[in-house]
Amino acid sequence: MYQANEHRYDKMIYNRVGNSGLKLSAISLGLWNNFGSVDKYETQKKIVHKAFDLGITYFDLANNYGPEPGSAEENFGRMLASDLKPYRDELVIASKAGYVMWPGPYGNWGSRKSIIASADQSLLRTGLDYFDIFYSHRADPETDPEETAMALDQLVRSGKALYVGLSNYSGAQIKVMADIFHENHTPFIIDQPRYNMLNREVENDVFPELVAEKKGAVSFSSLCQGLLTNKYLNGIPEDSRANKSTIPFLHPAQVEQTLKTVKDLNAVAADRNQSLAQMALAWNLRQPAIASVLIGASRPEQVVDNVAALDNLEFSEDECNRIDEILSAQPEIDWQA
Ligand SMILES: NC(=O)c1ccc[n+]([C@@H]2O[C@H](COP(=O)([O-])OP(=O)(O)OC[C@H]3O[C@@H](n4cnc5c(N)ncnc54)[C@H](OP(=O)(O)O)[C@@H]3O)[C@@H](O)[C@H]2O)c1
Repeated sequence: MYQANEHRYDKMIYNRVGNSGLKLSAISLGLWNNFGSVDKYETQKKIVHKAFDLGITYFDLANNYGPEPGSAEENFGRMLASDLKPYRDELVIASKAGYVMWPGPYGNWGSRKSIIASADQSLLRTGLDYFDIFYSHRADPETDPEETAMALDQLVRSGKALYVGLSNYSGAQIKVMADIFHENHTPFIIDQPRYNMLNREVENDVFPELVAEKKGAVSFSSLCQGLLTNKYLNGIPEDSRANKSTIPFLHPAQVEQTLKTVKDLNAVAADRNQSLAQMALAWNLRQPAIASVLIGASRPEQVVDNVAALDNLEFSEDECNRIDEILSAQPEIDWQA
C-alpha cells in the first residue's frame, strides 16, 4: 500500500493562482502522454507517486488523453482508488473538454451539450465526485462564448467543479470570457497556454491580459515536449517522444531545426549548474502570471530532475541577455508540420 513521503511539503514552492484563494505547486504533472492504455501502468504509478512525494499537488488531465482517448483518466482513477484516495484533499485534479472525444456533433468543441456530457464522462472515468479545475480546452469559433462560459458555470453550481479555466484562448478571447464569468460570479481563475523558450507568442497577448484580470497561468509543454532537455543533444533516442508513432506532435525534423539553439542553451544551463530542463522551467517561472509549470514525464527520474529546478530560480542580467540572444537566432519553426 502506497504511503506518501512525510516530507513531501518540505521543499516544494506553492504559488497563488492570480488573486484566487488557490495555490498550486510550482511544478505540476500532466498526463497527456505516457499514461494511456498503451503505456506500462506500473511506470505510470511510479511517476505519479514520485511527483506527489516531491510535493507536486496539481495533476492535469483531459477527456482525450491516452492513447486510447479516455485511458489516462481511467488509469489515474485506478491510482486514486488504490493509492491516492486518502490524499484526495491534498490534490488538485483538473480535466478539460473541447477537442474531439466521441463521434458525432456533440463530442467536440464548446457547446453546453458537449461540455457537460464530457465532464460527466470524465468524472465516471476517474471515479471522482468533482474536479478541482475544469477547463474549456479551446475556444469554439461557432458557439457563443456565453454558452461555453455558462456551461462551465453550471459545472461549478452543480458541484462537479470547484474552479474553471481556459486553455488555448487568445488574450482577446480570454477578455470576453472573463467579463461573462465576472458578471456571473463564476470562479474563473486560470489559463493554460503553451509557453516555453521556443514558443513565446503568449508573452505579448495572453500574459498581459491575465495580469490585468488578476488571473493565473499554468504553462503546458514547458519543456517543448522534451526538446528543452538534454534528451536530443546526441541524436534521437529510440524510446523518446520524437520517435513514437503514437504521438504525432513532435517530429525528428523539429529536433534537427532546434539542435543548435538547444546546445547553446545547454551551455548556459551548465554555467548555472543546472540541467537544461531545470533552466527551462525556472525561465518559465519568471513570468508574473505563471503559478505553475506543467511537465510531462516518461519516468520518475525526469520528475526528480525537473523538481530540482526550484533550487535555482534566479537569473542574472547577463544570463537573460545570453538566453535572449540565443533564442533570437532560432529560425521560425512550423510546429504544425
Ligand atoms: N491544454 C493543452 O492544449 C495542452 C497541450 C499539451 C499539453 N498539455 C498539458 O501539459 C502537460 C505537459 O505537456 P508535455 O508533455 O508536452 O510537456 P513537456 O514537459 O514539454 O514534455 C514532456 C516530455 O519531455 C521529456 N522530459 C521531461 N523531463 C525531462 C528531463 N528532465 N530530462 C529529459 N527529458 C525530459 C519526456 O520525453 P520522453 O517521453 O521522450 O521521455 C517527457 O515526456 C501535458 O501532460 C498536459 O497535461 C496541455
